[in-house]
Amino acid sequence: MKTLKPFKAVELLERLESLDAMVAPVQRVVRRVLGTSDAADLLHGVPLGHPAHPFLVQLPTGALGAAVLLDAVPGAERAARTLLAAGLLAMPPAIATGLADWAEGHPQHLRVGLVHAGGNVVAAGCFAYSLTARISGRSGGRVSALAGLAVLGAAGFLGGHLSFRLASGANHVEAVPHLVPAGWSHLGLLQEIPERQLHRRMLGRVPLLLWREGDEISAISNECPHLSGPLHEGTVTGTEADTCVRCPWHGSEFSLSTGQVVRGPATAPAASFAVWVKDERVQVYLPGAG
Ligand code: FES
Repeated sequence: MKTLKPFKAVELLERLESLDAMVAPVQRVVRRVLGTSDAADLLHGVPLGHPAHPFLVQLPTGALGAAVLLDAVPGAERAARTLLAAGLLAMPPAIATGLADWAEGHPQHLRVGLVHAGGNVVAAGCFAYSLTARISGRSGGRVSALAGLAVLGAAGFLGGHLSFRLASGANHVEAVPHLVPAGWSHLGLLQEIPERQLHRRMLGRVPLLLWREGDEISAISNECPHLSGPLHEGTVTGTEADTCVRCPWHGSEFSLSTGQVVRGPATAPAASFAVWVKDERVQVYLPGAG
């Protein structure tokens, strides 16, 4: 079945470079405000191991949608008004988490995301007008809420496109355990692995990142879980006790010994392999693989 024409337009949006002039200043401001901070990590959802934005949009979407439905129920005006207020109050955390994730995307994410955010701002304006109209007794409260819901739905469609077509927020190393064999695999000889250098080596179809200190070797998946950045082109950070790698694309940091996220925007850890060196032969094993 072919993609319907209106939905093809979203693909055009991804390539609409004229949006970049609007994207750049907003992205600059968001990055300057958040930087690489604990607050930024909280907004990305690093402590949860999962992006925070998708579940924070549930409350405003549900409350505002329910408010419009209640407009069709006689005598439910007060409940509709309460839900409108609750939905509007729940919007700022959803917007903040969305902006934090958006600012660390590919150009296609940034373009679609800008229109997604713009749609949500327009929807918020419609709902805010609706609420104030109801409180002050002005007309247009129901119509503006209905318009808000229509715009919110369109913006939500773009959010779905960002998540599922453009894989924004997805774990980009989810497939690793399905691509490497179960059990121990031979990776090479110890002398082939340089010391204290980020070293990329293939295990079948999966690129690994190796870090060697003497006979001790750490191995994690080389693709960044955020958006598949090449970690071997990154920089070494962390401490002697926990050496880390910083992704060259958006600055996520991962522990080389455990693969855990030390700094976002990534929320999912890198796949971490057990390493065994015997008779100069390096073997790796990924728990749960195969
Ligand atoms: S690809 Fe974005 S931080 Fe690595």
